[in-house]
Amino acid sequence: MDDKFRTAHVSTATSPLLAQISLSGDKSVSIRRALLSLFTTDAIRLTNYGSGEDCQTALLCLRELGKHIEHEENRVTITHHSMPVQATLDCRNSGTTVRLLMGLLAGRIGEWTLIGDESLSRRPMERVAAPLRQMGAQIELSAGGCLPARIVGHTLTGTNHDLKISSAQVKSALLLAGLSANGVTRVREPITSRDHTERLLGLTQAPDGYWSVDQSMQTTAALSLRGAIPGDISSSAFWAVAALLVPGSDVSIENVVLNPTRTGWLTCLKNAGANVNARFERETSGEPVGTLQIRYGKFSPLHVHASEVPGLIDEIPALAVLAATIEGESRFEHVGELRVKESDRLQAIANGLTAMGAMVEIRGDDLIVHGGSKLSGTTIDPQKDHRIAMSFALAGLVASGKTVIQDADCAAISYPEFFAQLSRLVTDSLTLSE
Ligand code: S3P
Repeated sequence: MDDKFRTAHVSTATSPLLAQISLSGDKSVSIRRALLSLFTTDAIRLTNYGSGEDCQTALLCLRELGKHIEHEENRVTITHHSMPVQATLDCRNSGTTVRLLMGLLAGRIGEWTLIGDESLSRRPMERVAAPLRQMGAQIELSAGGCLPARIVGHTLTGTNHDLKISSAQVKSALLLAGLSANGVTRVREPITSRDHTERLLGLTQAPDGYWSVDQSMQTTAALSLRGAIPGDISSSAFWAVAALLVPGSDVSIENVVLNPTRTGWLTCLKNAGANVNARFERETSGEPVGTLQIRYGKFSPLHVHASEVPGLIDEIPALAVLAATIEGESRFEHVGELRVKESDRLQAIANGLTAMGAMVEIRGDDLIVHGGSKLSGTTIDPQKDHRIAMSFALAGLVASGKTVIQDADCAAISYPEFFAQLSRLVTDSLTLSE
């Protein structure tokens, strides 16, 4: 296999996936732990730091913000230098980095410009800027509420936020802004989204659903950053889906984050009768960690209700591919947020699956997959969206003929090792080319 590749050529898997897999650190946890180092001048040492490009982007931004970073294999040491009063930060493809930085920098004296790549520059930023402005932030966005964002840091005032959408990035941005605001900042969301920030800050949720922060919590934040980062649960979902697609497969994945705000896809598969098991083993820096075991077997169509979407938002492309192979109607309700991810994932799923011969409908914000038709290989342009590239590579394992994934190297955004690992597991069914 070439180290450098652009295109993945996938053909029908002829043997089961039998593997024990360990994963690089969870992307959401890695980026949060790195960025929270802005609250301390102490050295922070992280191990199993996420290998994806988004995780590297967070470190590059920290460098621009005066941190000294040593990065060797998966070990990262972040030490303090002096913070500049002005910086332009290139957040490349990383929504988590840019939105968390907006919250972190809005209350820091200085002038900050946040930019991103083509995809990030299309994504909505007003959802973060508007509530931050209520706290006194001075944030100017470009046309359509997108990047570049210009932030003039000011002292912020704690405010109550009753969010209309459930977004962990927006919620986290506000909580992080609240850490340097005067008074108390409260944030509540309609449906619980991933709570890694709350865990790092040691917060407890009030009975009325609000999370509260104030400046005194900066110390807890700084203390909780060190140590090993458990494996990425969203990356693990690709192996779970692969195992459920290819007859005879049996895959276990160790050291995975089993945070209940991220395990919605496991619950969805279990409810459908799939042979997936999560074994809790320990708590690492406030995150439950354990092993996943997935065995091939038959199960029913998937049903995702609106209230379950935040718990599996990133796994929907892979679940939709799986749904296409199960006889009957699978429904993913209220998944409109997929339109504003790294690509318009709702359309990308529908287009890709339709091109492979599946019957898929988008009805308003719902995605309906009429599964059971035989998939045929085709060429997929994932629009440089890592999760679309990886999901359709899996579809190729059960499609007839060849499935060609263009720009497959975009998987590196979250999971640079994915295609190399896949080619080791299905040797005859995957080739990578420039
Ligand atoms: C993330 C939150 C989610 C998710 C993204 C990572 C995070 O985005 O899709 O991949 O780390 O907070 P939203 O907050 O936009 O839902």
